[in-house]
Amino acid sequence: MSIHSLDTATSRANPVPAPMKRLTVPKLKAMKGGEPIVMLTAYTARMAQLLDPHCDLLLVGDSLGQVIYGLPSTVPVTLEMMCAHGAAVVRGSWHAVVAVDMPFGAYEASPQQAFESASRILKETGAAAVKLEGGEAMAETIAFLTARGIPVIGHVGLTPQAVNALGGYGARGRSEAEAAKILADARAVDAAGCFLLVLEGVMEEIAAEATKAVGCPTIGIGASASCDGQVLVTEDMLGLFERAPRFVKRYDDFAGRIGEAAAAYAAEVRSRAFPGEEQVYRPKK
Ligand code: KIV
Repeated sequence: MSIHSLDTATSRANPVPAPMKRLTVPKLKAMKGGEPIVMLTAYTARMAQLLDPHCDLLLVGDSLGQVIYGLPSTVPVTLEMMCAHGAAVVRGSWHAVVAVDMPFGAYEASPQQAFESASRILKETGAAAVKLEGGEAMAETIAFLTARGIPVIGHVGLTPQAVNALGGYGARGRSEAEAAKILADARAVDAAGCFLLVLEGVMEEIAAEATKAVGCPTIGIGASASCDGQVLVTEDMLGLFERAPRFVKRYDDFAGRIGEAAAAYAAEVRSRAFPGEEQVYRPKK
């Protein structure tokens, strides 16, 4: 089955009968300075279905390494994982632009390597854009991809794929030199043609200055409300983990609620209260 086919029958996989018109990359770019852009991560079709009506952009983040696969960082995430989850999120969405993270090792060697990986992601998933981490060092690659029809989201400040070099996930830009470097990175990837720029874990002043300095919309994660939009890891925002970075606001307590539901199910199985009369098949009369 083609990943692009539209099935309008309602089912568990397709609960929305009438597909909507999808937002586009140029429309997102034009949102600079207007109503804030709403972005969340999604890794599965069902989560995409639930988030899609509320979001302008769904990011298939390489954070799926930790969130879905229990990996210690995003470093081990592969192109195969990103393609499989990217295709699921495209299948589960109708309205939002879907962007897929380029995993560590799939783009840094050369613009050509980046093109191979990005074109594979777009072909296999049906997503509209890719995201890659890095500033000035990635500018040539971003220009190469955008000149060849691949929309790119930049990502500067705290770049989690560089955790081994950074020594952790602390906020960036506390020193003057670091702040200047982040601003130079933001300007470089903007000039190279990225259509959105994620600013992660940076001081508020840097986010405000970068947002003024670049032509594309900025999306903050731990970067204050002065950005043109916001993104969070959905599972953090839902309260699925006991520990989350300081910049996360929990809008629910999914960990607690799942634990309670599982405990209720376990108690009913053990007491034989489940399955009850309503869940049992009987011969038709
Ligand atoms: O991998 C990810 O989820 C990200 C964030 C910006 C949320 O890159």
